[in-house]
Amino acid sequence: MNLILLGPPGAGKGTMAFKLKEEYKLPHISTGDLFREAIKQQTDLGKKVKSIMDAGNLVPDELTSALVKEKLEQPECRRGFILDGFPRTIPQAEALKTFSSIDKVINFTIPEEEIIRRLSGRRVCRSCGESYHTEFIPPAKKGLCDKCSGELYTRDDDTVDAIKNRLAVYRTSTAPLIDFYQKEGLIENVDSSPAPEEVLNILKKILDSRN
Ligand code: AP5
Ligand code: MG
Repeated sequence: MNLILLGPPGAGKGTMAFKLKEEYKLPHISTGDLFREAIKQQTDLGKKVKSIMDAGNLVPDELTSALVKEKLEQPECRRGFILDGFPRTIPQAEALKTFSSIDKVINFTIPEEEIIRRLSGRRVCRSCGESYHTEFIPPAKKGLCDKCSGELYTRDDDTVDAIKNRLAVYRTSTAPLIDFYQKEGLIENVDSSPAPEEVLNILKKILDSRN
């Protein structure tokens, strides 16, 4: 199963990808996570993308598509994959078509006030990348990941200004992908405002009934 998770920042793409990865034993490819890892490791790629990401702008298409192509060529992606945060522009979607096919695109929908609430309370595990929320999905022990006891931190782009910009960039550059994939007959709209377990159940119904 080759799956894309599409949706605005804070819609719950990462949260659901973590659950689907366990449920269906598929690799989770998040371009945002790949870029954050490159920044952490201070690689050339990391140095290039740091200021772009902190401001909430998009990394250039060619660089991003080449990174995903390389990942999808790995043997572990042969059985399928979950793309989270890619593609994010029409040129990226066109590039993806040249190196992979897609079975389903889940488009998460959520009101903007809820996005702001989610992103301003988000905490992420530095070791395994699991997402928490101070109010909605608090960890059992404050500041520590339930799964690996890693330290929880606030992302550098979860500031008021960067969030506003990410939403604007989403509207201009990413939302047109809904139409793009609608025309290909691949879109399934999913309201991601209910609790995580409820959203997961809806996703499982869609994915299990896939023909
Ligand atoms: P990326 O890391 O992809 O960020 P994003 O798209 O802005 O999305 P988020 O990760 O913020 O949100 P999410 O939907 O994953 O929500 P989450 O599950 O964490 O990209 C970051 C940057 O990298 C970009 O701005 C860009 O610079 C660059 N980049 C990445 N991909 C790129 C590309 N393809 N091209 C160019 N540049 C690219 O949930 C959010 C919060 O809500 C969490 O606290 C979570 O615990 C909580 N939550 C989740 N679900 C629920 C629920 N059902 N109920 C209550 N709370 C919930
Ligand atoms: Mg994410």
